[in-house]
Amino acid sequence: MASHSAVLGVGGGIAAYKAAELARQLMERGFAVNVVMTAAAQEFVRPLTFAALTGRKVVTEMFGNGGADEVLASSVEHIRVAEENQILVIAPATADLLARFAHGLANDFLTTLYLAFEGPVVLAPAMNSAMWNHPATQANLEILRQRGHHILPPDAGPLACGTTGPGRLPEPARIAEFALRVLTQRHDLDGETILITAGPTREPLDPVRFISNRSSGKMGYAIAEAAAQRGARAVLVSGPVQLEPPAGVELVRVQTAREMRDAVLKHLAESSIIVKTAAVADYHVANVPSQKVKKTAMRLSLELDPTPDILAEVGLEIERRASGQLLIGFAAETENVVAEARRKLQAKKCDMVVANDVSADGTGFESDENEVVLALRTGEVTPLARASKRVLADQILDQALKLRLALHKSR
Ligand code: CTP
Repeated sequence: MASHSAVLGVGGGIAAYKAAELARQLMERGFAVNVVMTAAAQEFVRPLTFAALTGRKVVTEMFGNGGADEVLASSVEHIRVAEENQILVIAPATADLLARFAHGLANDFLTTLYLAFEGPVVLAPAMNSAMWNHPATQANLEILRQRGHHILPPDAGPLACGTTGPGRLPEPARIAEFALRVLTQRHDLDGETILITAGPTREPLDPVRFISNRSSGKMGYAIAEAAAQRGARAVLVSGPVQLEPPAGVELVRVQTAREMRDAVLKHLAESSIIVKTAAVADYHVANVPSQKVKKTAMRLSLELDPTPDILAEVGLEIERRASGQLLIGFAAETENVVAEARRKLQAKKCDMVVANDVSADGTGFESDENEVVLALRTGEVTPLARASKRVLADQILDQALKLRLALHKSR
């Protein structure tokens, strides 16, 4: 017996063939899957494929070919389908579908169903990179994001049109997992504001060059996504990264450590939990020249000044105000991981330090997985087994809530 029900709306793009596997993946996760195909989708895949996989009728048109009775029956079908399903998953969400959803057009079954549907909507766009990057598509995405829809951004890679870039439909298993999470999300962070920093900072050398580091921002973005899905207002202060902001997250873009500090201090008072995943540059160039530095045959030295330690400053501020806010730092280490985490916990007055060994293979900076150790203010050390950063994000938030209770800190 299926425990969830989904409408899988299939748009007309080459990735429509992957929607067949997505139907299967959703079913494996306990979904009864009702497929609705646009006319264009049927040019790529036959409805029979989905009917055979799901064992259910596939909706292919708004009005049947029959007489008035059939037209009458089908004209309320979209309301029935909307009411009987818990989640609407659109994959591939083509540029055309995004535009029609954004502007409320109702000129076929899927767009009409969309307007009638009151539950959560998951959109998995896929298209050519130029179409994805087009301001019209981005503006439509923004509208849909603001509407609270859950957008799973496309992967970058080789595309059917022969180019390479963002536009590929993510793996069906990932879309199914995402949809399941959206549906079963917890609301244990309702009413909280969680401030997260992510990514590297960029410290200019001159108007065209900068010093930075390899941080991808993935861990921080995963925590922001988890926090938002669990009901929190998530404010994500991010250095420059190649990631789409997760649905429902307030993104504050910064470049330098100084800008990151200012953004953090601006949002500090309203935040109940502060999570500092950012790999902040420890130094910036002392006097940044206003013109591009010219090449000469001479050795060049850089004079660097320390940047503000944002975490330490926030730690002091929370202690001074006795505000009860929970402070979580991160530590990227290549040796003595636990000892260093404990040292940073003390030095920066954190409640928890999440430490990882960035020299290990397949975890750390650019990877999708991580393996971390939590050093807690209570003296405990809790290792978290290797997992995706998104799974770890929930576990870190779980531990943060437990720790807050143990420390008798208030919201
Ligand atoms: N951090 C910060 N501001 C800085 C440097 C670091 O807020 N100028 C924060 C990071 O966001 C992270 C924590 O401090 O949460 C630890 O960062 P890490 O680079 O591991 O430690 P450092 O203090 O820079 O120490 P070291 O480089 O000597 O390991």
